Amino acid sequence: MNINAQATLPDEQKEQLKSIIGENYTIGAQLGRTGGHTIAYELTDKRSKEKKVLLCSHGQKTIQEKIQYKEQQEKSSKCRDFCAKGYNSADGCFLPETESYADGLYRITSYGGRELTEDLFSHLSKPEQQSIVRQFAGWLNFVHQKSFAEKDMLKSIFTKYEVGEVQQSDMWGDFTEKTQKIPFAQKVTETFAPYMSAIQQKQIQDLIASYQQRDKKDEICVLTHGDLRDANILYNSEKKQVSIIDFERSSVTSVYRDFCTYCRSGLAPEMIAQVVSAYNQLPKQQHAVHIDPKKVQTFLLIAYLHELTRCTQPESSKHNWNMFKKYYQQVNVAFNHLSLDNAHSAKKCIDTGRKTYSNE
Ligand SMILES: Nc1ncnc2c1ncn2[C@@H]1O[C@H](COP(=O)(O)OP(=O)(O)O)[C@@H](O)[C@H]1O
Ligand SMILES: [Mg+2]
Repeated sequence: MNINAQATLPDEQKEQLKSIIGENYTIGAQLGRTGGHTIAYELTDKRSKEKKVLLCSHGQKTIQEKIQYKEQQEKSSKCRDFCAKGYNSADGCFLPETESYADGLYRITSYGGRELTEDLFSHLSKPEQQSIVRQFAGWLNFVHQKSFAEKDMLKSIFTKYEVGEVQQSDMWGDFTEKTQKIPFAQKVTETFAPYMSAIQQKQIQDLIASYQQRDKKDEICVLTHGDLRDANILYNSEKKQVSIIDFERSSVTSVYRDFCTYCRSGLAPEMIAQVVSAYNQLPKQQHAVHIDPKKVQTFLLIAYLHELTRCTQPESSKHNWNMFKKYYQQVNVAFNHLSLDNAHSAKKCIDTGRKTYSNE
């Protein structure tokens, strides 16, 4: 069946869906954005009046693609089950899938809320923001620590689904070597040179150097969700609960992966900064994982710089540079504000805070 990504489904497609999931539900509007593999529609259970969600796979046309999709779903459901345990300690909400149709191509799940975009986060009250940060950090910390302690159990999941451990270098390797023919620093300079001042050029080169020459000792491997973008973090403002979805990219890799994705994640930098801080303050068990906020700050900037220079058209460079300048400011304010709580680093942060780009 071809399901178009649109706000409301035409009657004809609703009828087709009804023939698959039965008459017990009223199908509503599309929820959130269309994911890489899934489109979600609001459902109301006619019997209990409960709000639910119908997940429809899309894009799997051949039998081979359908089999792959099913295997992927099985793997992610194992990871999801493992990660679900973290909700007990984090006050967040786990979304169980209740029904599955047509070999998993259609699934019914609980309603998780809206995508936690920068915009949504910034419009919430301080206590609500703090509660989100607590839930998110608590859940992440649980999953990372627990998976570190239960490595063997994890191995069995990954062996079964033939997903090996991802090497750190794959994750945070020099972006340049793999995806671009010329070194990253050179690519960035070439792309943005006409718009950068000499000071800005120096700052960017320093940023890239600090990324490439960083100490990787603390980048230990744990089970990571691997795709923590706004589209995969839901917030239910009635229940005040966070739910994490979409475990398709789960893998055993650097713990930092869950604080920064390959490109701009759509999450508010101030939220990420607060999550790092809350995560580090949680009671540590035997294998404590301390997240270096400076590193996360660098990763966020490098990932966005990478995204903006990867397949950019020359005519969009100026716009991209302006976007980067704004983000740079936002990230630095978020992380420097965080370290202002630290008396010994306060002065340093105020100094560096002044060095951020002006909107010239
Ligand atoms: N339980 C849910 N409650 C509310 N919205 C959801 C739910 N599950 C998925 N969505 C919406 O559907 C989108 C795609 O679902 P997702 O599971 O992330 O699929 P994909 O693997 O295609 O990214 C999500 O980004 C979100 O907007
Ligand atoms: Mg998704």
